[in-house]
Amino acid sequence: MKLETPDIAIDQSTIKRRIVELGIELSSYYSEKNPIIIAVSNGATIFVADLIRELNFPLQLDSIRASSYFGKESQGVVELHTALKLNIKDREVLVVDDILDTGRTMTKIIEFLHSEEVRCVRTCVLLDKPERRVVDIKADYVGFVIPDYFVVGYGLDYNEYYRNLPYVGTLANS
Ligand code: IMP
Ligand code: MG
Repeated sequence: MKLETPDIAIDQSTIKRRIVELGIELSSYYSEKNPIIIAVSNGATIFVADLIRELNFPLQLDSIRASSYFGKESQGVVELHTALKLNIKDREVLVVDDILDTGRTMTKIIEFLHSEEVRCVRTCVLLDKPERRVVDIKADYVGFVIPDYFVVGYGLDYNEYYRNLPYVGTLANS
């Protein structure tokens, strides 16, 4: 099978440098807070793996699965699978996702976390596409603000492919 090679939008070393900066930002807030980091699978797995290795304070890691995309168009309906291993009640939680697009996924996750009585929720995304927003939400920590292009790589997929690319790229036919 042959896949189209995406054009590089954000290269590997640029991502790496920005993650170091995010690590410093996160450390100034979280160093004494013993947070639980919740990665949104599958998209955030690569980002969260690199990000937490820049964090030098006690933290625990868990994950939520969310799906809303089939192909390039959002379904509009977000499905959450929230089988957390950790007890999040009264804890500081940082949600890490690959991209904030329409904002539906993050909004639904935040609602869920509040229903579980967390102490405080903050959000961190590698990419932010503000032009696509349909729900009024901002992330607390953003790697890169990007225009309304469909992107793949570094965890982001197109039909589950391309997650393994070490950079963020665009597809010519999208
Ligand atoms: P939202 O609910 O529309 O904000 O979408 C968030 C989810 O949609 C992200 O966690 C991604 O999995 C997926 N998504 C949004 N934009 C893109 C993209 O450009 N490429 C790949 N996946 C995307
Ligand atoms: Mg996702």
